[in-house]
Amino acid sequence: MLTELKIKKMSIYPPLLLAPMAGLTHSALRTLLQDFGGVGLLSTEMLAARKLPIENEKLSPFLVRTEQEFPLSYQLLVTDAAEVAPAVEALHRFGADAVDLNLGCPAPRVRRKGGGSSLMEIPERVKKIVIEAGKRTDLPLTAKIRLGESFSEEKLRNFCLMLEGEGIDLLTVHARLRKEPFCRRPHWQWVAKVKEWLSIPVIANGSVLSVADAEKCLQVSRADGLMIGRGAAFTPWLFADIGREVYGLDIPVKPVCLPELYARFVLALVERFVPERRLGRLKEFTHYFAANYAFGHTLAVKVQTASSVIEAWQRAMDFFQCSDPESLKEAAARIAEVEAVLL
Ligand SMILES: Cc1cc2nc3c(=O)[nH]c(=O)nc-3n(C[C@H](O)[C@H](O)[C@H](O)COP(=O)(O)O)c2cc1C
Repeated sequence: MLTELKIKKMSIYPPLLLAPMAGLTHSALRTLLQDFGGVGLLSTEMLAARKLPIENEKLSPFLVRTEQEFPLSYQLLVTDAAEVAPAVEALHRFGADAVDLNLGCPAPRVRRKGGGSSLMEIPERVKKIVIEAGKRTDLPLTAKIRLGESFSEEKLRNFCLMLEGEGIDLLTVHARLRKEPFCRRPHWQWVAKVKEWLSIPVIANGSVLSVADAEKCLQVSRADGLMIGRGAAFTPWLFADIGREVYGLDIPVKPVCLPELYARFVLALVERFVPERRLGRLKEFTHYFAANYAFGHTLAVKVQTASSVIEAWQRAMDFFQCSDPESLKEAAARIAEVEAVLL
């Protein structure tokens, strides 16, 4: 099986990509993933192209990045070709390793402004955006789509061929229609169609939450790689497991101690984000992370209703103490580190 994708000067090894996720794929989660290994390409969350030129990359929670987070793709939420040049110039300044175009986001607030999946309905506008982006950067230029409004092979094929023809180097397909929620099974077999139509690498995305899902998705989609979203927050070691078990890579197995992992996440938030940007991100992450516990909803609710990071932290520690006191002992050194900066 192909274990490395070459796109322009960038190597994606293994072909396991982190999905852009608003409120989740920031520096703190990305470094947790890097500690386990197995991610071929990291991602930011979607970044509004219009705002990028005035963002401060040292302070913006969307842009803060450490040296460990490499290679890192920056996803642009763009609505019009006129926004592309200043945004791409900013991405060069920030040291982006790849530029991704968000053409798939179904969120109504994004669509109302003319972004995300609404663009799939206006291929002419997308064409101008891609051409403009291609003129402005030599970085790998990628795009992420959903399957569209309804199943239409012709429409999807024309759209994908247009993207490839205008210079998109790699395409990720979230295998759901625009209105389909996460509880619906993804249509990985539609990624296989896209793969047949295109000669650029095609990446499958949607509900890869385990090694077994990864195997099945690759088999059904015949994709060149996988993009993983929620699984990164549920089980940050998933990339490493897939790298080892599906791609046969020699990635060391690191034992997982959940409170220790949680403490590392909190430490990264505190070290890298301004105070008002921490709590929301902790709540978002905890929503997924809590699923590792049989009574995880209790943890999620406790953190969700906390009014400060300190309160959230203390509630999480109480929960860990009740669920698995031994794991707290194992994580004692890291917990002490957090408490030294937090309390
Ligand atoms: C909380 C959250 C935020 C998301 N934000 C983005 C985003 O900023 N850009 C984007 O293209 N997709 C976004 N997505 C969609 C994911 O990138 C991905 O396509 C989707 O979660 C399916 O993959 P998964 O089943 O591996 O999670 C988001 C998904 C979630 C759950």
